Amino acid sequence: MFKKINHIGIAVKNLDESMKFYKDQLGFEFKGIDEVESQKVKVAFFKIGETNIELVQATSPDSPIAKYLEKNREGIHHICYEVDDIEKALEELKAKGVKLIDEKPRPGAHGTKVAFIHPKSSGGVLTEICQH
Ligand code: CO
Repeated sequence: MFKKINHIGIAVKNLDESMKFYKDQLGFEFKGIDEVESQKVKVAFFKIGETNIELVQATSPDSPIAKYLEKNREGIHHICYEVDDIEKALEELKAKGVKLIDEKPRPGAHGTKVAFIHPKSSGGVLTEICQH
């Protein structure tokens, strides 16, 4: 069901500021910026080997990222695993008693379909699954 870690999501206050480290200092391959309306966020992707770093900035005060940053420091926010068939994966997880935030996939960055698993079911680690 799971193929690989697609990306690690990092919550940031200022995308432009945070991008400098990954782009200019680490020299990671910049894949572009995308706005995800459904999540009220703007994301920057950097490819590193088989996986990516996703910097996530809120675009509205009621964005989940804005709420997260009211209570937490900037830093690692979620991990995203890639699957071949997200509908099937969600069905299987649900059948195994995993609590889901999204029962149905929604549009993610760069044309992907994504869904979040509830941290109550994943030991506090916000877990996203995605399909290209
Ligand atoms: Co993500």
